[in-house]
Amino acid sequence: MDQKNKRHIGSVSNNRFLVGITVVGLFAGAISIILFIGIVETPLSFFCNNTMNLQAKKSSTSINPSTWMELQRKAIVHYATSRVVPQQSLKEIQISLRELNARTPCNFLVFGLGHDSIMWASLNPGGSTLFLEEDPKWVDTVLRGAPHLRAHTVKYRTQLSQADELLDHYRAEPECWPNKSFIHGNQKCRLALNMLPEEVYEKEWDLIMIDAPRGYFPEAPGRMSAIYSAAVMARNRKGSGVTHVFLHDVDRKVEKVYSDKFLCPKYLKESAGKLRHFEIPAAKKSEDKEFC
Ligand SMILES: C[S@@+](CC[C@H](N)C(=O)[O-])C[C@H]1O[C@@H](n2cnc3c(N)ncnc32)[C@H](O)[C@@H]1O
Repeated sequence: MDQKNKRHIGSVSNNRFLVGITVVGLFAGAISIILFIGIVETPLSFFCNNTMNLQAKKSSTSINPSTWMELQRKAIVHYATSRVVPQQSLKEIQISLRELNARTPCNFLVFGLGHDSIMWASLNPGGSTLFLEEDPKWVDTVLRGAPHLRAHTVKYRTQLSQADELLDHYRAEPECWPNKSFIHGNQKCRLALNMLPEEVYEKEWDLIMIDAPRGYFPEAPGRMSAIYSAAVMARNRKGSGVTHVFLHDVDRKVEKVYSDKFLCPKYLKESAGKLRHFEIPAAKKSEDKEFC
């Protein structure tokens, strides 16, 4: 073999060596990126570190991320072109947004479908956001425009005009008391929302937004049972962390009285405008005589 051929063979094996090194480098780089993403994701799962958040996580992995991107694009276009905007003010929305940022993907239960529904669902990508709405026609209207939202119709068994009487009922009915504190299958306590779909009882809700049902005329359902049931769900939490409950329209008497009674001033974290944000820990003592 002459010198020229030897040099050629040498340069080919050098090239092969370089290609090999490059391939190994790229492979190691890819593995590092995957591990890095895993590390970045860890704080999220830490914030949502409880059984039900694991459920939310599970469902998040089954949803194609591009579907979420698509839904978020749709939400941006929706709000950029809609003449009707959510009823909550920016300051009020920012309170829930802060918790959503910290806990997403998580389980988010929202009382009421409205012009803000697409926003709430989009702010919890990969999580589970479920809406409970009293008016079946309104459910149809909203879902026609946003079929990706998940909503159930709820037939409330209260009326705003019964708010005072229901407080007397609460005091007299042991099945309403905090030492019992259950809503699923609770027939006797009229404040317990015992007619909800199974999914609501099966999941542990990290955030609960109460912006419905309507409570501005005597025959409307009022928010008494939504407030009571949110308090019970929060007290019964089995996973780690607290339950965040957001209540809107606290300028009204019933919202004020019922949140003082069941969501508790000591758990009030912050408020803005007509919104109160409560951070409710799981109840430790089963012999509690009062919610607060
Ligand atoms: C007090 S509103 C809250 C609305 C929501 N925060 C928003 O920004 O749109 C709650 C309830 O009002 C009713 N509602 C709201 N907008 C409606 C509409 N355009 N037509 C019929 N019902 C509506 C629904 O029953 C809903 O659950």
